[in-house]
Amino acid sequence: MAVRPPAAAPATTTAASHPSADALLGLFPPGTSTAPDGALRIGGCHVGELAARYGTPALLVDEGALRARARRYADALAVRRPGSTVAFASKAFPCTAVYRLLAEEGLGVDVASGGELALALAAGTDPARVIVHGNAKTDEFLRAAVEARVGLVVIDNFDDIDRLERLLAAPAAATGSAAPDAGTYRQPVLVRVTPDIRPDTHAAVSTGQRDSKFGLLVPQAREAIARLRASDRLRLDGLHVHIGSQILDTEPFVRAVAAVAELGTFPVYDLGGGLGARYTYDDRPPSVEAYLDALTAAADALLPAGARIVIEPGRSLVAGAGVSLYRVVTVKRAHGETFVAVDGGMGDNLEVSLYGQRFEATVATRPGGGADGELCRVVGRHCESGDVLSAGVLLDDPRPGDLIAVPVTGAYTYSLANNYNAARRPPVVFCRDGRSRPVVRRETYADLMRRDLP
Ligand code: LLP
Repeated sequence: MAVRPPAAAPATTTAASHPSADALLGLFPPGTSTAPDGALRIGGCHVGELAARYGTPALLVDEGALRARARRYADALAVRRPGSTVAFASKAFPCTAVYRLLAEEGLGVDVASGGELALALAAGTDPARVIVHGNAKTDEFLRAAVEARVGLVVIDNFDDIDRLERLLAAPAAATGSAAPDAGTYRQPVLVRVTPDIRPDTHAAVSTGQRDSKFGLLVPQAREAIARLRASDRLRLDGLHVHIGSQILDTEPFVRAVAAVAELGTFPVYDLGGGLGARYTYDDRPPSVEAYLDALTAAADALLPAGARIVIEPGRSLVAGAGVSLYRVVTVKRAHGETFVAVDGGMGDNLEVSLYGQRFEATVATRPGGGADGELCRVVGRHCESGDVLSAGVLLDDPRPGDLIAVPVTGAYTYSLANNYNAARRPPVVFCRDGRSRPVVRRETYADLMRRDLP
């Protein structure tokens, strides 16, 4: 299978998309419309009013679209494999409002750090619905997980087993000595299997290949299973597999099911996340239903009939509900190119620089490039040439002061946002039925100095 080379950020303006109005709106959250003045309305909220109220850059989330997507995932899995569950891979958008919303929609969560665990618990997530991940879990993280009585800890290496055994054996255990079950508590665990599968995705987000830092190859997984079966502190519930992210084909997922099926019969199989999102006009990811058709058909054929399936979507659950809103600071026409420089960039969207992810963009008050749109490179305001948001998009006569909307920014943007150039990270604004509410405020300059000591 073809493997995409690690791509550099798409720094040159080579290709243009010529979207129809419908095609353009098709990348925005369902329910996006245009106002009488032609401007985009996200969740019924006019982009101009949102910019005036919350400033730019801002990360807008269509709350209705996010809820609908969560329900679509849960319902589609439930009809195909009753009793199975969806856990949100919270690294894709770890803010308490998102944890709360997805808990309300009945989803569990996957956390991959003590920080994500703290956020999930603070948001009121039922600990029994929490799945703990990480290739380097510290004592502190595991102690917090066990004390919270999380539903599952995914064993990534033999040290995870040693650590958990020690923690659970400690007398004044870290494990809630006051808890009624102290002394008898057994932590349910899964073993993460590295299936030696390399899907067609960016090397940096491929996780199931032979040389992955994640999980245990089959012979070692067998050894871990044997150790865990003999443990009286840990209860082996099943297996986990996750092969990567932004996967646009169902076939590698099916192979991953076959790989775990060979390791024996268990009550739980967590089949990970990884379904790709549709970022550009050309992307054609499988639908949630097509993905789950393939996954559950493989599970029905290869896994025990009564086993509970868990899936952990991140990107494909949240990406499409998010829209980044920027303001144009300057337009430079040089060397036959038009650079549209906005007030955000790699500080709030690192996906382009890290993975060469392609995004589309539009002038938010005049959506669509039109037949006579200008071929532009939308760049950020940071001090790196790789700070590109969208290369090769047609924009309608972009001018300083215009608002630019970049769709499909709900996944791995908030979580990878940073303070490069001492940028203040943007607010997150939920929009629904024409009403907006900030759920994360913009950082202030004072925030930037908060941790500095005199
Ligand atoms: N489960 C596990 C154990 C994972 O490691 C991940 C993502 C997921 C589930 C969710 O995968 P998704 O459905 O989102 O593809 N920072 C990168 C993405 C890395 C994904 C890492 N693992 C990015 O910005 O593209």
